[in-house]
Amino acid sequence: VKKEARAAAPRNATQESAIRRSWEMNAAAWTDAVRSGALESRRVATDDAIVRTVLSRRPARVLDAGCGEGWLARRLAVENCDVVGFDGSAPLIERARRDGGAVFHVMSYAEFVHEPKNVGVGFDVVVFNFSLLGRDVAPTLAAARRVVAGDGRLLIQTLHPLSAADGAYVDGWRQESFTSLQGQWAPMPWYYRTIGSWVREIRAAGWQVEQCDEPIDPASGRVLSLIWLAALSDTQR
Ligand SMILES: C[S@@+](CC[C@H](N)C(=O)[O-])C[C@H]1O[C@@H](n2cnc3c(N)ncnc32)[C@H](O)[C@@H]1O
Repeated sequence: VKKEARAAAPRNATQESAIRRSWEMNAAAWTDAVRSGALESRRVATDDAIVRTVLSRRPARVLDAGCGEGWLARRLAVENCDVVGFDGSAPLIERARRDGGAVFHVMSYAEFVHEPKNVGVGFDVVVFNFSLLGRDVAPTLAAARRVVAGDGRLLIQTLHPLSAADGAYVDGWRQESFTSLQGQWAPMPWYYRTIGSWVREIRAAGWQVEQCDEPIDPASGRVLSLIWLAALSDTQR
């Protein structure tokens, strides 16, 4: 077992940096896909679902963590939210800044964990929209605790573990090749986790789950994503 654990550590670090690199290489193709509406699940359900859930908190200040090219930050700014976005991909942040609407920082989750307050404090909502892709998410979620207001909320939208299971409902590294999308794409490793595993990570980071929404495709009835809403645990307030 010890030998396996030793082997898993470097593999994990390699996968985490491969995720970061893929979002640098895929920045142009991703921006085109998001802005042209090529991602059907987003168009039919998941974009509106995350916007609705964020706005249900009537937030004045929102942190868009792993904001990509910035669509969500811009959408929330139209609703009079003061939004800060950050992402580890410099080319994605460059595109976000070009379109404005919010303050955008180039920052990896490792940097965020090291110095969370560099993005500001007092956020009513910290939202991760399809942006938690690695294995060790608890440190990042714990850092988010340090920048929320006392009654702030954590929101995470992620692939639904049932629709993404592909025959194996078990935590582990997988690979996304973006084959359904046009253009040139570098493959991206991502860490599949079950519903129980998500709850454990969120709790380990000092949050308590309040709500779990499951947006569906209105045409097929297929579940598309999972949205976690969590408050600070009593001991963290
Ligand atoms: C699927 S995209 C989602 C982008 C955006 N939230 C959206 O809804 O379009 C995943 C994003 O997570 C960011 N990301 C992944 N791992 C990261 C890390 N370790 N540090 C910072 N950003 C990261 C990527 O750079 C990418 O922009």
